[in-house]
Amino acid sequence: KISYYNGEFLEDDQVAVDYNDRAVYFGDGVYEVVRIYDNEIFTFEEHLERLVNSAKEIRIKIDKDEIRHIMIQMKEKNKLPNAALYIQVSRGIEGRTHLFPKEGVKPVVLSFINKIERPVDAMREGVKVVTRDDYRWLKCHIKSLNLLSNTLLKQEAKDSGATEAILHRDGRVTEGTSTNVFAIKDGVLHTHEANNLILNGITRQYVIKLAQALDIPVKEEAFTVDFLKEADEVFITSTTQEITPVISVDEVNIGDGIAGEVTKKLQDAFEKGI
Ligand code: PDD
Repeated sequence: KISYYNGEFLEDDQVAVDYNDRAVYFGDGVYEVVRIYDNEIFTFEEHLERLVNSAKEIRIKIDKDEIRHIMIQMKEKNKLPNAALYIQVSRGIEGRTHLFPKEGVKPVVLSFINKIERPVDAMREGVKVVTRDDYRWLKCHIKSLNLLSNTLLKQEAKDSGATEAILHRDGRVTEGTSTNVFAIKDGVLHTHEANNLILNGITRQYVIKLAQALDIPVKEEAFTVDFLKEADEVFITSTTQEITPVISVDEVNIGDGIAGEVTKKLQDAFEKGI
């Protein structure tokens, strides 16, 4: 496998990340995960745009064309028709100091690729989730490398026999640790509005468009954990998990405890789009 680090394409096992890369000790950077289906990068421009915006929010300047070029090269050199492609941009390499590096220190790009298949079992059977307090920072719209809260909370979910932790602030559902959350009640699709409390998922945006095309009303507004548990259907979305039905929340069954009809409709529409 070929990876990319700081200007070079290398065999995966030849990559040596500099310990002075600010990604290492500060998590000072941003990232994207894109899905390659049949040799095509899915919703490529949307991911590029979000990466540039995330970088801008933390005052890193990146050249979108350069990133696009690296990602295309990664795809072409690896020739994996179905894969997840990761790319991160850190603030650069300089001895550890909290202040930004001096003028002239360039952002550093890291990219690697993994062969993956579509999560067909989870998409058919659904998954269990638990709810947790969302104690993350207040800039969750930035796809930052700092994922300590997310990893701790995801592990807590796993430890309690669930697949994902659905987060809430004062009882209002924000998103999952690595997914966006949707609830369907009386035919209306509900999801948290795209503000600083969630990452505006590219899959989230895509699903909203699919719903609109299918005449499913969409309400982008926070809802409560109680509303979630009483929903007719619930699902989570992400680049790698696509549209995954949620069959229980804190051991409370959703609907009949199986994937719901609206969810299936959206899954079908999604599949046609990839
Ligand atoms: N996670 N919310 C959070 C906190 C996320 O980390 C992600 C993605 C999403 C869904 O976004 P998208 O639909 O653009 O993938 C929502 C990626 C896949 C990850 O960290 O692996």
